[in-house]
Amino acid sequence: MTKILIVFGTRPEAIKMAPLVKAFLKEPGIFETRVAVTAQHREMLDQVLDFFEIVPDYDLNLMKPNQTLHGLTAAIITEMQPIFEEYHPDHVFVHGDTTTSMATAMAAFYSSAKVHHIEAGLRTWNKQSPFPEEMNRQVTGRIADYHYAPTKRAKENLIKENIPVDSIVQTGNTVIDALHYSIEKIEKDPGNEVQNLDAQLGGKEVILVTGHRRENHGQGFKRICKALKVIAREQPDIFIVYPVHLNPKVQEPVNRILGEVSNILLIDPLPYQDFIWLMNRSKIIITDSGGIQEEAPSLGKPVLVMRETTERPEAVETGTVVMVGTDSKKIYTETINLLTDTEKFDIMSALHNPYGDGQACNRIVDHLTNLTEKANKFTEATV
Ligand code: UD1
Ligand code: UDP
Repeated sequence: MTKILIVFGTRPEAIKMAPLVKAFLKEPGIFETRVAVTAQHREMLDQVLDFFEIVPDYDLNLMKPNQTLHGLTAAIITEMQPIFEEYHPDHVFVHGDTTTSMATAMAAFYSSAKVHHIEAGLRTWNKQSPFPEEMNRQVTGRIADYHYAPTKRAKENLIKENIPVDSIVQTGNTVIDALHYSIEKIEKDPGNEVQNLDAQLGGKEVILVTGHRRENHGQGFKRICKALKVIAREQPDIFIVYPVHLNPKVQEPVNRILGEVSNILLIDPLPYQDFIWLMNRSKIIITDSGGIQEEAPSLGKPVLVMRETTERPEAVETGTVVMVGTDSKKIYTETINLLTDTEKFDIMSALHNPYGDGQACNRIVDHLTNLTEKANKFTEATV
């Protein structure tokens, strides 16, 4: 039996790996599948595990308040070692650009497991933006044996870096698989929380905001909050809803600057299904998130991205996403434009889906099934 270990640690990795866990678990005759979580995030990870009904086989429980990149990286590499020694996985799957992905890939390489990188090949080629994610993703790409590129662009980026073309598979992004699975589940049972939130919004239009990027901590967040405050004051008939990331470096400025504004609703991070409902309920999304840039075009929502660079240029090119950085004036102007210019709003909210068709996980499982069959034939032929 081929042994697989799927590893993740943060909210977005969990959302994007959950459908892959489910897809591998459907093939118990071919694969033994185990899940390890570093718990780089705790509460925000557990929300996702609950929703997708995944119980990890290993939970390193590593999150510390205000953790450092140095401490977290060292802890992941050290704490993954006993898991590799006990289970001896043949194939280890990591996702994207987090410290969990990079450190786990390194630990898997040290333990001679094959490393498979989901969401490979996204690049800004700027080490400082996103920080440290661009470097995490590049390092993981160097280590990986197999690369699952979500888009043609991502595949081309890998080829430019001399990654062997036969180790790259273009799959689409697994976030769209997660979105399809979840929309179906939410339609069957919207849940009480959603009904309460809906009542609180009282039919008003919603601007949804999220933000957490390290390169925006400090002055960036002050400028973001300043812009939101002005928009809220000028548009009393609109609700700005902001589920605030649990990072203390985000919580502090956001609560201090926006806490008292009557039409800004600061709430805890939402469970994934409720968040999707809220995205759907919103008119405009303002965010620095990677995953939300990928989900929103599928829901036909215009997105203003509060970053200087993006490793996801596809939706900018199709016109659903506009980059606004953390410039207060630009955030304000682009938001007001979208609220007042119907033509611009209609163009940006036209449905585009450059990131996937919901079949990414099946393609990944098929790829490994083929590799396994080839390896078995080779062993039979040589015995
Ligand atoms: C991490 C990832 C980032 C990803 C983001 C998604 C790295 C370097 N960063 O950034 O790529 O986009 O997750 O959200 O891997 N915290 C809690 N509870 C939680 C989660 C976080 O209290 O459930 C607090 C803790 O104090 C923690 C801090 O947030 O120390 C920062 O968490 P960390 O994972 O280091 O950074 P993020 O900014 O969340
Ligand atoms: N998300 C969520 N609850 C929230 C905010 C976001 O479930 O309150 C989901 C969102 O749908 C997306 C993912 O979290 O799938 C994005 O995570 P985040 O912005 O933290 O990380 P990034 O994508 O930037 O790495």
